[in-house]
Amino acid sequence: MKRVRAEVLVLMLYVHSVSTQIKPKLKLTPYSIPENRALKQALGYQEDTYLNFTELTSKYKYTTQEHEVVTEDGYILTIFRILSKCDQVKQHPVLLLHGIFDSADLWIIAGREKGLAYILSNNCFDVWVANHRGNHYSRRHVRLDPDTDPEYWEYSFDEHGTYDLPAMIDYVLAASQRPRLYYIGHSQGTTNFFVMSSLRPEYNDKIRLSIQLAPIAFMGNITSPILSIAAHGLEPIKSFLEAAGYRELFAKDHIAHFLVEFLCQIAPDLVCGQGLALTTGYKIGSIYSRALSRSFGHSLDGISVKDLAHFGQLVLSGKFQRYDEGSEGNIKRYGTSKPPQYDLSKITSPVVLMAARSDWISTLKDTETLRSQLPNVIEKYIIREKYWSHNNHLWGETAPIYEFPKILDYFNRFHNYNSPSSIIPHN
Ligand SMILES: *[C@@H]1O[C@H](CO)[C@@H](O)[C@H](O)[C@H]1NC(C)=O
Ligand SMILES: *[C@@H]1O[C@H](CO)[C@@H](O)[C@H](O)[C@H]1NC(C)=O
Repeated sequence: MKRVRAEVLVLMLYVHSVSTQIKPKLKLTPYSIPENRALKQALGYQEDTYLNFTELTSKYKYTTQEHEVVTEDGYILTIFRILSKCDQVKQHPVLLLHGIFDSADLWIIAGREKGLAYILSNNCFDVWVANHRGNHYSRRHVRLDPDTDPEYWEYSFDEHGTYDLPAMIDYVLAASQRPRLYYIGHSQGTTNFFVMSSLRPEYNDKIRLSIQLAPIAFMGNITSPILSIAAHGLEPIKSFLEAAGYRELFAKDHIAHFLVEFLCQIAPDLVCGQGLALTTGYKIGSIYSRALSRSFGHSLDGISVKDLAHFGQLVLSGKFQRYDEGSEGNIKRYGTSKPPQYDLSKITSPVVLMAARSDWISTLKDTETLRSQLPNVIEKYIIREKYWSHNNHLWGETAPIYEFPKILDYFNRFHNYNSPSSIIPHN
C-alpha cells in the first residue's frame, strides 16, 4: 500500500510538472504529455509496456521493416513487415489489422511464444501488420495536421474500409509480388474488412481467405450494459466533445493513456481487469495480470469521435449501415435520406468467423446474423472455453491452444486449393 501511495504522489507531481508546461495554444487534443521512459523505469514498469513495435520485435530477434502507405485521400499510414523465419516463404503473405483503440502492437504484445505475428513468422509466413489512420503510428497526412485541422478526424470505420485497407492490400501485394493474401482482423479490423469488400467488391479477388476474430458488423444485441448506455448518449456526447475541441479520443500521448497505463501497472486486475469486465464481458484471471499490464501500455490508442459515433449508430439501429449524416447530409452523400446498409452479399471471398461465448460486444446472436448474410462462410467457429471474451483472442493465455493452431491449419489447407467446396470445415 505504501508503494502505491508513493507512486500516486510521483504521478501527481509528474502531471503537475507537465501541465504547467502545456502551452496555452488551442489544440484539438489538449493534455498531451511527452513520453518519459526514465520515469516509467523508475516506477518499475515492465519494459514491454513502453517499447514500441520495432523495439519489441528486435528485442525478440525478429527482422522488421517499416513501410509507408499513402491513401487516395492523403492519409499516411505505417505498416510493419515481420520477415519470415524460414528460407522457403509461404506463398500468401498475411495482413493483420487491429481493432478500435489499438495498433499493430496488439499482435505481438503477448510475447515471443504467444504473439500471433511471431507465430506466423515462425511458420514461414511473410507477415504485414497494419495501422489504420488515427493511431499513433499512422497519425499523419500529406496536407492536414491532426493537431490543428478538425478535418483530419472526419472519418469512421467507413473510411478505414474504403481507403486505408485497399491501399494497404495493394501495397502488400505489390511489395511481395503476390496476387492474393490472407487477412486476419480483430474487432473493428473485421468491420473494416466487411466495409471494404462490400463497397469495393473488386478486392474480394485479392483475398485468399480471411479470419475474422470477434467479428463486428451487426451490434443490435450487444450485452455490455455500459456500452449500450453510452450508445444512447452518443449524439449529445459527440456534440459536446466537438464543441470542446475534441475530435480525437485516447491519443497515445494523452494524459488519459498515461493514467490507464500507470494504474494497470500497479493494479492490473482491479483496475484494468474490472474495466474490461464491465465493458466486454472479460472474466477476471483469464488473461494473466502481467499480460494485462503490458497490453494497456499499448491499447487505448487514438481514434476519432466520429468512429465511435458510427458504432453507436450500429447499436441503436441494429443494422450494419453507413454513417448517418442526417437526412440532408445523407442525400448529399448517398442520394437517400436514410444511410444505406452495407451489402454483405457482395463479400464473395471465403471467410472464417471466430467468436467467443462471453464476448459482450461481438455477441453470438449478432455473429449468427452476420453468418446468415455472408455468402461464403467456410466456418463459424465458437471457442469452446466459456470464459473467452473480446480480448482473449489476442492477449489470452489460451489463444495459442484454442485458436492459433486452427488459423495455421486453415492457411495450410488453403495453400493450394481451387474450389471452396473441396474444403471440409472442422467441427
Ligand atoms: C520506436 O522507438 C524508437 C526509440 O525511441 C524510435 O527511434 C523509433 O522511431 C520508434 N519507432 C516507431 C515505429 O515509432
Ligand atoms: C438482435 O438484434 C436485432 C436488431 O436489433 C433484432 O432484430 C434481433 O431480433 C435480435 N435478436 C437476435 C436473436 O438476433
